[in-house]
Amino acid sequence: MLRYLNYIDGSWVPSASGKTFKSSNPATGEEIGQVTLSTPDDVAAACDAATRAYDAWRHTPAPRRGEIVFRAGEIMIRRKDELARLMTMEMGKVIKEARGDVQEAIDMAFYMAGEGRRSFGYTTPSELPNKFAMAVRDPIGVVAAITPWNFPLAIPGWKIFPALVLGNTVVYKPSCETAIVSAQIVRVLEEAGLPPGVLNLVQGPGSPVGAALARNPRVTLVSFTGSTDVGRQLMIETAPDMKRLSLEMGGKNAIIVLDDSDVELAVDGIVWSAFGTSGQRCTAASRVIVQKGAHDELVRLLVDRTRKLQLGNGLDPSVDVGPVINRGQLEKIERYVKIGEQEGAKVVAGGHVATRDGLSNGSFFEPTIFDGATPTMRIATEEIFGPVTAIITVDNLAQAIEVNNDVAYGLSTAIYTRDVNQAFEAMRDITTGLVYVNAGTIGAEVHLPFGGTRGTGNGHREAGIAALDVFSEWKTLFVDYSGKLQRAQIDVGIA
Ligand code: UN1
Repeated sequence: MLRYLNYIDGSWVPSASGKTFKSSNPATGEEIGQVTLSTPDDVAAACDAATRAYDAWRHTPAPRRGEIVFRAGEIMIRRKDELARLMTMEMGKVIKEARGDVQEAIDMAFYMAGEGRRSFGYTTPSELPNKFAMAVRDPIGVVAAITPWNFPLAIPGWKIFPALVLGNTVVYKPSCETAIVSAQIVRVLEEAGLPPGVLNLVQGPGSPVGAALARNPRVTLVSFTGSTDVGRQLMIETAPDMKRLSLEMGGKNAIIVLDDSDVELAVDGIVWSAFGTSGQRCTAASRVIVQKGAHDELVRLLVDRTRKLQLGNGLDPSVDVGPVINRGQLEKIERYVKIGEQEGAKVVAGGHVATRDGLSNGSFFEPTIFDGATPTMRIATEEIFGPVTAIITVDNLAQAIEVNNDVAYGLSTAIYTRDVNQAFEAMRDITTGLVYVNAGTIGAEVHLPFGGTRGTGNGHREAGIAALDVFSEWKTLFVDYSGKLQRAQIDVGIA
């Protein structure tokens, strides 16, 4: 059986605990490998290594840092199929989506590699004569990257690549559910020539491993993607030390379908956004807000399409929907379906754990649609993170936007309409971090900001140039070459 280790100071090492945990395939229940279980001591060793490596890395010219990340992108292209297969085996997403996940990491590698020669600051005139003013980006120090299982390479790439290019060192703790595939990004960067200590890997659960990492005094920035509960906990734990903290958390994203829309196109978007990745994206469409005139046609087409989706092992290219991550999640989804029924919504497709031939060893849930949901039901406000969506009927655009905005999360919204005025009104008034017109809620691109309002985040964005603001701090520089004391705000011209 394969064993997977920590990576500390450039060496693959077992944990001091001597213990391991198992990673298994959610489609079959089969074990994939044993992973070393880190202790708080391993975390401390990783943070020490990252601290020792920091000065040399920060002084390495940024274009050189970018070139290493560029090479990582090239290596991932070469290994794309193998990485995608490993991903499907470890967390279940269907193979074409796993390839997309690897591609998203490749895209981010190339995009951030270019930042090695940009990372723009700016110069601006001083208010005083013979004085020069500019603002540059400084690295922050040791970054803790704590990542989820649903995008096992893309999300680590979103954090690790910009962190490294900007001159930070990193201690990385991926989710236990994807410990093996997520560790591959470390192997890739090692092969690309990253010096020892610049990126370190520890493995194990949020408690105690993630918590020890976030609390470690050497860590200056915590970048986390995962549940809102854990994000809130991290906010509390990092507050006393005033650590930098960047959070990407839950979503309760909606697709709005107006009477004037192309309903078939909307159905394509809903099927993809609600059931792609088995609904396990923070951008998944877990609500459909339909204007009453489009309701009947939409439900008919959507139910028909949903019933035809093939559930199964994602390695089979004919499969549309893979398993959910584990039994615990399967039970949670089942509980939410019962809650929806008790609340008075009606299951019009799916609704059960799928146990037919070949599926019973895995964690499969039928793609499920509720009709007749109301905006305040738990199934319409709480993140389920599974293949379940709830249809809410409204009278008009204004009501649709109100329902859309009135949840505790604010990540992604889609609107289907052919009316340019309604589209622009929606773009103006929707209060989520991402808005799509005539496209589903999933599929953000790496060179644009990604993140959300309300309980989805804490004001930061990943990806795009917005990510540079997370992984660097502004340093403002003034050079006075007048040879005399000049006082800002005081020795200035008029008034
Ligand atoms: C996530 O689910 O946390 O926009 C990220 C998307 C993907 C990223 C999702 N590019 O759906």
